[in-house]
Amino acid sequence: MPHIAIISSSVRTGRNSHRVALYFKNYLETNSLATVEILDLKEYNFPLFDERLRFQKNPSAGMLDFAEKIRSAEGVLIVTPEYNGGYPASLKNVIDFLYDEWHRKPVAISTVSDGVFGGTQVITSLQFSLWKIRAWTVPAMFPVPKAPEAFDENGNPKDKAATDKRAANFINELLWCIEAGIRMKKPLLGSGEAG
Ligand SMILES: Cc1cc2nc3c(=O)[nH]c(=O)nc-3n(C[C@H](O)[C@H](O)[C@H](O)COP(=O)(O)O)c2cc1C
Repeated sequence: MPHIAIISSSVRTGRNSHRVALYFKNYLETNSLATVEILDLKEYNFPLFDERLRFQKNPSAGMLDFAEKIRSAEGVLIVTPEYNGGYPASLKNVIDFLYDEWHRKPVAISTVSDGVFGGTQVITSLQFSLWKIRAWTVPAMFPVPKAPEAFDENGNPKDKAATDKRAANFINELLWCIEAGIRMKKPLLGSGEAG
């Protein structure tokens, strides 16, 4: 089973998008699709970016922990709120702070808002930053409109059947990219590299 790191990006007091991160963790585990860990940026409480991790003389334990969890995850699912048409500084912080860890990493994006458009204006700017850092963005969307009504505080969706159906399509694309990434790392049969 692949391992997926879910980044819960909002550090806002009273945040709603964390509910979506909880939903995905539960969905993936209940359906035995992946092992999952939520990387909660509110818990990490990183300072504002001052240099990339690889150039830091005394990186904090939290920074090293976060980097290792991104490096070792076979896929990443980012849950991000939309703030003024963009994604939050907390998320840009951790994109900029790592480098090799993002390379060819399958990354799926779920955008969240309390309005009707589900945070979709975030997609292009976030995809572009991830593309620049050579991550492998998964071509699928999971926008969540009216988040406080759509999920309770524990991540239970109001309309479970419809939400699970949408999640299945979204997660299938992420799992396909993860599987492709894993296969590319395996030695090819007959190439002389096996055995
Ligand atoms: C500073 C700020 C800016 C926001 N801008 C937008 C926006 O441009 N579009 C939108 O649909 N919702 C916007 N929202 C509402 C968020 O989408 C809403 O808070 C949602 O629950 C996701 O963020 P959260 O996880 O921090 O709660 C904004 C919220 C904040 C705090």
